Amino acid sequence: MRYDTLIRNAHVIDGSNAPAYRADVAVSGGRIERIGDLRDARATTEIDAGGRVLAPGFIDVHTHDDTVVIRQPQMLPKLSQGVTTVIVGNCGISASPVTLRGEPPDPMNLLGPRGAFVYPRLRDYRAALEVARPAVNVAALVGHTALRSNHMDDLQRTASPSEIRGMRQQLRESLDEGALGLSTGLAYASAFNADTDEVLQLAAELTAFGALYTTHLRSEFEPVLVAMDEAFLIGRQAQVPVIISHLKCAGAGNWGRSPQLLAALEQAAKTHAVGCDCYPYAASSSTLDLKQVTDAFRITITWSTPHPSMSGRDLQEIAGLWGVSLIDAAKRLQPAGAVYYGMDERDVRRILAHPLSMIGSDGLPDDPFPHPRLWGAFPRVLGHFSRDAGLFPLHTAVHKMTGLSARRFGLKERGELREGYWADLVLFDPERVRDVADFSYPQQAAEGIDGVWVNGVLSYQQGRANGGRAGVFLPR
Ligand code: ZN
Ligand code: CU
Repeated sequence: MRYDTLIRNAHVIDGSNAPAYRADVAVSGGRIERIGDLRDARATTEIDAGGRVLAPGFIDVHTHDDTVVIRQPQMLPKLSQGVTTVIVGNCGISASPVTLRGEPPDPMNLLGPRGAFVYPRLRDYRAALEVARPAVNVAALVGHTALRSNHMDDLQRTASPSEIRGMRQQLRESLDEGALGLSTGLAYASAFNADTDEVLQLAAELTAFGALYTTHLRSEFEPVLVAMDEAFLIGRQAQVPVIISHLKCAGAGNWGRSPQLLAALEQAAKTHAVGCDCYPYAASSSTLDLKQVTDAFRITITWSTPHPSMSGRDLQEIAGLWGVSLIDAAKRLQPAGAVYYGMDERDVRRILAHPLSMIGSDGLPDDPFPHPRLWGAFPRVLGHFSRDAGLFPLHTAVHKMTGLSARRFGLKERGELREGYWADLVLFDPERVRDVADFSYPQQAAEGIDGVWVNGVLSYQQGRANGGRAGVFLPR
């Protein structure tokens, strides 16, 4: 028997949250063929892992990579972290199904300029992916705000019964074409005025498909518990799993409340499938939101359409330069993007360490001065939080980015290192792995990620993408 690829002497962390064990792993035809003692086996390509860790490729459950997987299919920011699958369409914004009438409304503009939205149906998006051949696998959620922008002329109100009918129809079509579920971004002005009933009616379409509901909560500030209750109610009524996106305690007045949030999550988990994702940083990033402008913590401008030269400068500094208030400076900068240093590190750690939390980067690939989570989220959990801070064992860190994620999102035969599963693999050095991207130099590849295979194809090696582009669309 001659395999395609044989990786010898690996410290296998299989993604199931079990501790590492020593084994050789053989891959053929894109799948893991054998795991065990394969000293007599031969392969076309043989690699000595030399005791480094071999794990399932990481699943980035929270991305805004919708259009970048097509426009820049080599996907270096993700591949260089060991990510082999991205889930797009989060926070209520998706590239499909979308038919724009004008400029993309905030925050859909995070996904790219108007010209990037050319997928009236999910099947059009899938077809474009097939042509682009991205380096990573892609699974897609349908964004509530995207549906609203398709069917409503004014996003500052709740949808009418006929608009809801139109949205349901389009959601049903997309689920039929392979979408994983529905995402909302209820905190954003473009969806905030949608009442709970509007979302309940849409979520009703998920039931028959066994799809899931993910949500950027209506509030991550003081009313966060009320917002969590709304999310759980929607999930219970539709009888579908609920994922709270980037769970956090936002705003200085909210710090220290993570035990309450996690207790609420645990309570809901007793009767219902719920979970959350989070990124390993105490700063958030999105479009510049006037409601979040404050002098209680630092805010950095990452991009600004009218003032592109302000990218990378603090709002405080810009306001000083112009001799205006923070809020007036923010108004002049819009449309713009920002990093908000609005969380407490202790809350971040508690949420990260909780057994119901998964890792999602929430990276913004179109941002010229992106939050470092785009390039650093996964290695930061492995290096900084697991190895250096000792927040959890390495196999638990891996579980939060592989096995748990695949199970929650229904990604079949992925997320674990098992015979017969797809060969999405990452080889890394547990002593060296670390995030290099930081808030000053955010676009830097991690260290210690030595090899990444996607569907059995070696796609990243020795610090560079090697041209392997074997990602596929993963339908529900
Ligand atoms: Zn979000
Ligand atoms: Cu997001």
